Amino acid sequence: MPNTVLVGAQWGDEGKGKIIDVLTRDADVVARFQGGNNAGHTVKVDDRKYVLHLIPSGILHADKTCVIGNGVVVDPLALLSELEELGGCGIEADGRFFVSDRAHVVFPFHGAIDASREARLHKGRKIGTTKRGIGPAYGSKVSRVGLRMADLVDPDFPDLLAPYVEETNDVLKGLGAEAIDAERLTADYTAAAGKLAPFVADSVTVLNDAVRAGKSILFEGAQGTMLDIDFGTYPYVTSSNATAGGACTGTGIPPHRIDRVIGVIKAYTTRVGEGPFPTELTDEVGSHLAKEGKEFGATTGRPRRCGWFDAVVARYSVMINGFDYWAMTKLDVLDGVENLKICVGYECDGEICDTMPANVRCLERCKPVYEEMAGWRTSTREVSRLEDLPAQARAYVDRLCELTGVPLGILSLGPGRKRTLRVGI
Ligand code: GDP
Ligand code: IMO
Ligand code: MG
Repeated sequence: MPNTVLVGAQWGDEGKGKIIDVLTRDADVVARFQGGNNAGHTVKVDDRKYVLHLIPSGILHADKTCVIGNGVVVDPLALLSELEELGGCGIEADGRFFVSDRAHVVFPFHGAIDASREARLHKGRKIGTTKRGIGPAYGSKVSRVGLRMADLVDPDFPDLLAPYVEETNDVLKGLGAEAIDAERLTADYTAAAGKLAPFVADSVTVLNDAVRAGKSILFEGAQGTMLDIDFGTYPYVTSSNATAGGACTGTGIPPHRIDRVIGVIKAYTTRVGEGPFPTELTDEVGSHLAKEGKEFGATTGRPRRCGWFDAVVARYSVMINGFDYWAMTKLDVLDGVENLKICVGYECDGEICDTMPANVRCLERCKPVYEEMAGWRTSTREVSRLEDLPAQARAYVDRLCELTGVPLGILSLGPGRKRTLRVGI
C-alpha cells in the first residue's frame, strides 16, 4: 500500500478508527501524528468494541507496528492504562509499539489549567474541551518549557521537573487552582517512566528506516479539519494541526514520501463541544441522527450535535488536505430520513458565499443555503455492493462526491469491519 495519510474532514468523530482498522491490513506501520488522548477512535471487531485514545487503531492487528509520533502530546498515565487495557484483551504491544522520544508529556497540571480556564470563560465563549490538558500541553511545547518523553525517561527527570512545577504553581495560583504536590507527581511519573521506557524510541529514525525499507505507513489523523488550530473554527478548535500537513511535521517523514491522502467524512455532520455549526439541527431530525448514529463522544460521553452535510466545510477541507479519495461513513444512519438537505453555500449579511470565513462571529451569522434530495426508505445495512444501494442513496453519495470533486474510495454502512465497501481503493 502507498504511504497514506488519513484525516477527518469535519469536526472529528468521522469514523477514522474504523477506516484505519480496515486499511491497516494493507499497511506495515500505523502512526499517530498529532493530538493526544482527547481522541476517541472506535473499532468494532465482531461483538467487541475498542476505543483507542493514544495508541494507533492499527494495534488490533497483531503483526503491525504502531508508532506515536513526535507531534502527539502524551499523558504517560493514560498511555499505560491503555496498554494495560489492551493487554487484558490479549493484545500485546511489546516489540511493535513505539512512542517518540520527541513527543511532549502531558502532566496533570495541564488538565487542571485546561479545566480552570474553561470554568473561567463566560458562557457562550467556552470551548468545551475534553479537559485532557491538550491545549496547555501544546502551550508548554511552543513556549519551550515543556518536557518530552526523552526527558521523562532521563535519570535527571526529577531535576528537570522541579523548576517546571515551581513556575506552574505560580500559574495555578493565579487561576485559583490547587497547587501541585511536586513530590507525588515526581514519584508517579518516575514510576510511569520505568514502565514506558522500553517503548520510547527515536520514532523519526524508526519511521524513515521503514520507508527506506519499502514498508508502507498509514498516518492516523485525530480530530478533524474544522478543529485544526490554523484552519478550524478558531478559537473553538483543538491545539494541533489535524490536517494532512501535520502528518509530516508530526512524524518527521518528508512530504514527498506521502503518496495519497484520504478524507474520512460522515454522510451528515456532527460536532462535540462548543462553536459555530451552520447546519446544526435542533429538531427531531437532529435527534433522529443522534439516536440512530449513537452520537455520543467516545472520550467524554457528551452528546454530539448533529446536522446536515455541509459541502462548504467539505470543499474547504478538500482544498487544505488535497484528498485523493473519500472514505464516507454512516450513510446507513440516513436510512428512512424522508428528505435530505445538503448545504451548498452560506448566506451571510445578505451575501451568498461558498468559502469558509475566518471570522468566527461571521460564521455564527451564516445561514446555510440548502439543496434538497429525496431520501430512501429501505435499509442499507445489508448492502454489500455499491450497485445494490437504493437509487436515492446512490444519488446522494454521487452528489456529495460531485459537489466536493473527490471520488469515493470507501463507503461505510455500519460500525463493523464487514460493513465496508471498498470502491476505488
Ligand atoms: P473517530 O474518532 O473518527 O474514530 O470516530 P468515533 O469512533 O469517535 O465515532 C464514530 C462512531 O461511529 C463509532 O461509534 C463507530 O463505531 C461508528 N461508525 C463508524 N462507521 C460507521 C458507519 O458506517 N455506520 C454506523 N452506523 N456507525 C459507524
Ligand atoms: P477524534 O480523534 C471530536 C473537540 C472538543 C472541543 C475542542 C477542543 O475522536 O475525532 P481539546 O480537548 O482538544 O482541547 O478540545 O475539540 N475535540 C474533539 N471532537 N473528536 C475528537 O477527536 C476531538 N478531540 C477534541 O470537543 O470542542
Ligand atoms: Mg472520536
